[in-house]
Amino acid sequence: MDFTKLGNTCVIGLQWGDEGKGKIVDLLMGHFDVSVRYSGGANAGHTVIVGSETFALHQLPSGCLRPTVRCVITGGTVIDPAVLLGEMAALEQRGIDLSPERFKLSDRAHLVFPWHRKEDVLAEKTAHAGSKLGTTARGIGPCYSDKVSRHWGVRICEMQHPDRFRERLARIAAQKNAYFAAVYSDPETLDGKAIANEYLEFAAQLAPHVCDTTQLLRESLDEGRRLLFEGAQGAMLDVDHGTYPYVTSSSATGGGVATGAGVPLSAIQGRVGVIKAYSTRVGAGPMPTELADRTGEWIRERGGEYGTTTGRARRCGWFDAVAASYAANLVDPTHLAIMHLDTLAGMDELKVCVGYRCDGKIVNRFPADTYALEQAEPVYETLPGWDEDLGACRDYDALPKAARGYVEWISERLRTPIGMIGVGPARDQVIMVGS
Ligand code: GDP
Ligand code: IMO
Ligand code: MG
Repeated sequence: MDFTKLGNTCVIGLQWGDEGKGKIVDLLMGHFDVSVRYSGGANAGHTVIVGSETFALHQLPSGCLRPTVRCVITGGTVIDPAVLLGEMAALEQRGIDLSPERFKLSDRAHLVFPWHRKEDVLAEKTAHAGSKLGTTARGIGPCYSDKVSRHWGVRICEMQHPDRFRERLARIAAQKNAYFAAVYSDPETLDGKAIANEYLEFAAQLAPHVCDTTQLLRESLDEGRRLLFEGAQGAMLDVDHGTYPYVTSSSATGGGVATGAGVPLSAIQGRVGVIKAYSTRVGAGPMPTELADRTGEWIRERGGEYGTTTGRARRCGWFDAVAASYAANLVDPTHLAIMHLDTLAGMDELKVCVGYRCDGKIVNRFPADTYALEQAEPVYETLPGWDEDLGACRDYDALPKAARGYVEWISERLRTPIGMIGVGPARDQVIMVGS
C-alpha cells in the first residue's frame, strides 16, 4: 500500500467499534503530519502497542505516540477535562511530549459535566430491562443531547469568561437538580458554583492548548501538511445509520469527519475502513451473528476481546457480511484494514453471514428496524479455515491459501481493495497489501 497516494485520510471503523483503529492510526501516522480526533469522547478506547508498552488512548489522538506529529482534538468531540488532564499526565509521565506547541484542543468542543455522567448512569439504571443501552457511562449521550438541544450545552471557549461561566453553571445545575429530583427522585444536589470553580481550574491548565482548531487545520491544509483523521466508535454505532437506539450519540461514518473536524469534504481523499475478521460488540443491541457458545468464548479469549475503556467482555461472533457491506456502502472506503486475522487460526471452517432470515424470508439488506434485526436469523456460507499461526507473517503471498481466500472473500463482498491485514496486536504485526 502506497501511503503517499492516499492524500488526507480518515480511519473509520466499519463494525461496532474496537476494530483496531488505534493500531492502524499509529501505523499510518509515520506518513502524516497531523493526527486529528474529531468525534466522540472518553467512550473511545484505542489501543496502541509500541514495543513492550501498551497505551490506551481515550480522548487524545493515537498519533500522539509519534513524536514528530501535531495532535489536534477538534470541535465535534465532547471533552471531560478531568479525564483529559489525567490522560495527558499519565502519558507525559511515560515520556510522551504533549506540550502546547504539539497538542491543540478546540475551543468549540463541548464540555462533559458531572450531571452528564450522572444522567448516563441514572437513565441506564432505571431503564426497563430490555431497553438498557449498555453505555460506557462517560456522560456522552447526555452531553451530546445538551449540545443539540442548545440550552444547556457549554463549549470550552465559554470558560474564557469566568463570571458568565459561573452564572451559567449555577443556572444549569439548578435545572439539572430539579430534573434529577423530579424524574429519578434523586436527593443529591450538584453544586454549580463548586463545579464552575473546579472547571475554571481545569481551564487554566488546558488554556495553552486551546485554540481555534478549525483555523489551525485550514492553515495546515494550506501549508500542504498531511492530515490523518481518527474515527471513534464504528459505522454500526453511528447515531443516524447504526442499530438505533443501540448506538452512540455522534456520527461515526464518513460524514462525521467533515462536521466534527471542521474541514471541507474536498480535504479528505483516503478512507481506510477498519474491520475485524469476525464481529464483536460491547454493550446492548442486536448482533445477528453473536455466538453465545464455546466458539464465541474461544474467539474472545484468543482475540483478547475485553473492552479498552470499561473492561467489559465483548460479545463475539462470525463475520457479518450483510452489516459490513452496509457499512462499506456508507463509508465507501478506498482501502480495507482487515484486523485480527491471526485470531481465527485453528478453526476447521469459518462461517460468514450472507443474509438474514426475517419473517421466513431471506434478505441481504441491512434493516432499519432494530426489532426486526433482533429477530433476524443469520444465513451462513462456510469457508475453509487454517491452522498456521500468522503472527510472524509479513508477506501476503506467505499467508496460507485459506487465509488469503478468506480476506479476498471479504474484499470482494465489500467491493473494496485490501490495504492492510492485522496479524497480531504489535505495531509491526501487519501485512501491507497492494498499491
Ligand atoms: P479501537 O477502539 O478500534 O482502536 O480498537 P481497540 O484498541 O479497542 O481494540 C482492538 C484490540 O485488538 C486491541 O487490544 C489491539 O491491541 C488488538 N489488535 C489490533 N489489531 C490486531 C490484530 O490484527 N490481531 C490481534 N490479535 N490483535 C489486534
Ligand atoms: P472505540 O472508539 C466499542 C458503545 C457502548 C454502548 C454504545 C453507547 O474504542 O471503537 P456511549 O457511552 O457512547 O453512549 O455508549 O456504544 N461504544 C463503543 N463500543 N468501541 C467504542 O469506541 C465505543 N464507544 C461507545 O458500549 O453499546
Ligand atoms: Mg476501542
